[in-house]
Amino acid sequence: MKKIVVLGGSGFLGGNVVATLQKRGYAVQACSRRTGVDARDEQCLSAYLKQINPAIVINCAAHVGGIAYNAQCPVTVFEDNLLLGYTIVRAAYRSGVGKLVNIMPNCTYPGEMDLQLHPPSPSESIRTARSL
Ligand SMILES: NC(=O)c1ccc[n+]([C@@H]2O[C@H](COP(=O)([O-])OP(=O)(O)OC[C@H]3O[C@@H](n4cnc5c(N)ncnc54)[C@H](OP(=O)(O)O)[C@@H]3O)[C@@H](O)[C@H]2O)c1
Repeated sequence: MKKIVVLGGSGFLGGNVVATLQKRGYAVQACSRRTGVDARDEQCLSAYLKQINPAIVINCAAHVGGIAYNAQCPVTVFEDNLLLGYTIVRAAYRSGVGKLVNIMPNCTYPGEMDLQLHPPSPSESIRTARSL
């Protein structure tokens, strides 16, 4: 049975991922700062991953708090999420993890945007893809 580590496994998304995988019989290990793993710290995360030796890491860890919180603390949120993404990819690679599923934090759109988005029709998408 492949071992799976869920980073941020105590959070809303991570907790549901852990529960779903456990229901399906996978050996899952959840980690986050409350279990002693700060994923911004490469040494700490690498040591943990080497010890557990998972086949798959699913990253659900993020610094999130909603749109109002993002507006209040934009720099901290941005820096933390950049650092989390960077460190997790490096630590997973250096620890020999075979597969990393990296869920990117959302709420990165601007507060005001003067842009009308018109999703292309399927036939337009195909034409665009063929022209690339
Ligand atoms: N909730 C939604 O409706 C929703 C919708 C779309 C996308 N998402 C995306 O899903 C992801 C997770 O969101 P969520 O709602 O599950 O957030 P959440 O409930 O706040 O969970 C965040 C998780 O990340 C962990 N974490 C934070 N900083 C960490 C660090 N430095 N090192 C290790 N673990 C850390 C937290 O645990 P500790 O505090 O113990 O470290 C917690 O387990 C985000 O990328 C978010 O953008 C969420």
